[in-house]
Amino acid sequence: MTIKIRPHHSPIRGFIFHLHPRKVVAETIRFTLSFGLGGMAATLFLVLVLTGVLQLLSYSSDSTEAYQSIIDMYAAPSLAGFIRNVHHWAGNLLVLVSVLHLLRVYLTGAADRTRRLNWLIGCTLLVLVLGANFTGYLLPWDQLAFWAVTIFTNMVGYVPLAGVQISELLRGSAEVGPATLENFFAIHVGLIPPFIVVLLVYHFWLIRKSGGLVRSRDSGQRPVMVAAVPTLVAREAAVGFGLCALLLLFSALVDAPLTDIANPGASPNPAKAAWYFMGLQELLLHLHPTFAIFIVPLLMFLLLASLPFIRQAGLEPGLWCGGGRGRWTAAISFLTGMGGAAILVVVDELAFKNSGAPPVLTPWLSRGMVPLLILVIALGLVYRLLRSKNFPPSQSLMAVVLLCAGMVCGLTVIGIWFRGPGMMLGFSF
Ligand code: HEM
Ligand code: HEM
Repeated sequence: MTIKIRPHHSPIRGFIFHLHPRKVVAETIRFTLSFGLGGMAATLFLVLVLTGVLQLLSYSSDSTEAYQSIIDMYAAPSLAGFIRNVHHWAGNLLVLVSVLHLLRVYLTGAADRTRRLNWLIGCTLLVLVLGANFTGYLLPWDQLAFWAVTIFTNMVGYVPLAGVQISELLRGSAEVGPATLENFFAIHVGLIPPFIVVLLVYHFWLIRKSGGLVRSRDSGQRPVMVAAVPTLVAREAAVGFGLCALLLLFSALVDAPLTDIANPGASPNPAKAAWYFMGLQELLLHLHPTFAIFIVPLLMFLLLASLPFIRQAGLEPGLWCGGGRGRWTAAISFLTGMGGAAILVVVDELAFKNSGAPPVLTPWLSRGMVPLLILVIALGLVYRLLRSKNFPPSQSLMAVVLLCAGMVCGLTVIGIWFRGPGMMLGFSF
């Protein structure tokens, strides 16, 4: 009779092998392929769940108590204030890290046919991360929170057909008030995080199913493999713990912002949306509301979501920006987008917006259709120009995508730092 000895299995090992196969392609674990950004996003999400649950012990979502419950968090010797700081900074950092992760996935050619579904799940995750941050924003019930949510829900009201209804659904009443706080708290704690967990499990499973991260064509049929434990896991741990150490240090030094208690009667000047929606608020200063809040963002999101579905759009796998001249093209496109947005804002501010001249066309045309058509034609010309210079279709499209990304970044930067009282242009540091 033969006796089989089962190898030693610890729960941690078991968990790791649910996430990773025993061996992974050596090339895919190099830091400069992924910069550990997906791992960072996952770490931040874990930190958010942990600190979020801990905050439930001290936070009250009743509008008469919410603000005071935040103030009380900072009373010594409680650690609740520190935990709030960690939660606040982790949430905001997650927006940045998710966007960078998305860009790395696209730019290393991983937004391809085989990863289409995972790309769409990623896009949904991004929307949920924004939703989590936005709903969390209101919870401290201070002036910053109250007015940012008022501005955003006003913006939602411009969405054609159902805008006002969606806005009122979010608010739980006609104006932002106690019902909005209860609504946002429920969505923030009970709805969005479970959704994210389910999608993340699927996200990770699909990565395994597609044979790990993207790799270059050079790696061939029989690539060099390394053991996931310890090689990959040690790197993941270094990224995760390193990030946590920096986050805790930062949160010990810098408190999350808190202004005066919410006052529906007195809006701060300037009243701004949350920083990740400042691009939209800036656009609203220049375009017809239907275009600024609905048509332009929708078109950009559709372009983003459909990238792996567009024929010949996939960049060379495993290389940054398709290799060759790609990196320069990417950098120049992004910076041109940022600079272009800044120039357009200033020109509109000086020459058109405040000119007082009677509009030749209806605002729907002059501040909507015409600028949109000019933008689309300009992007089409950039594409044609690059194709005529023998750039492959994928890199030519990349230039268009990064021009748009640069513009969004430019508008966001202007909105955050260059809009002062009355939303006039100027420094606002
Ligand atoms: C909460 C947000 C997210 C988390 C926690 C997350 C986590 C991860 C992790 C850990 C990986 C593997 C390691 C790495 O690529 O760094 C990964 C890969 C991937 N992610 Fe995400 N992700 C998130 C959001 C997104 C977004 C916004 C997109 C794109 C729209 C996306 C698309 C992908 C794709 C396509 C892969 C496979 C990449 C490849 O095979 O090289 N993810 N994600
Ligand atoms: C992706 C996940 C999450 C993100 C991005 C996020 C983000 C945020 C943000 C930005 C705030 C405002 C912090 C401030 O300035 O005061 C907040 C507040 C809050 N969050 Fe979350 N959160 C997430 C998950 C959770 C979870 C899972 C829970 C609880 C189970 C939670 C509970 C809370 C509570 C109680 C507050 C109010 C206290 C406070 O303002 O700090 N959060 N969240």
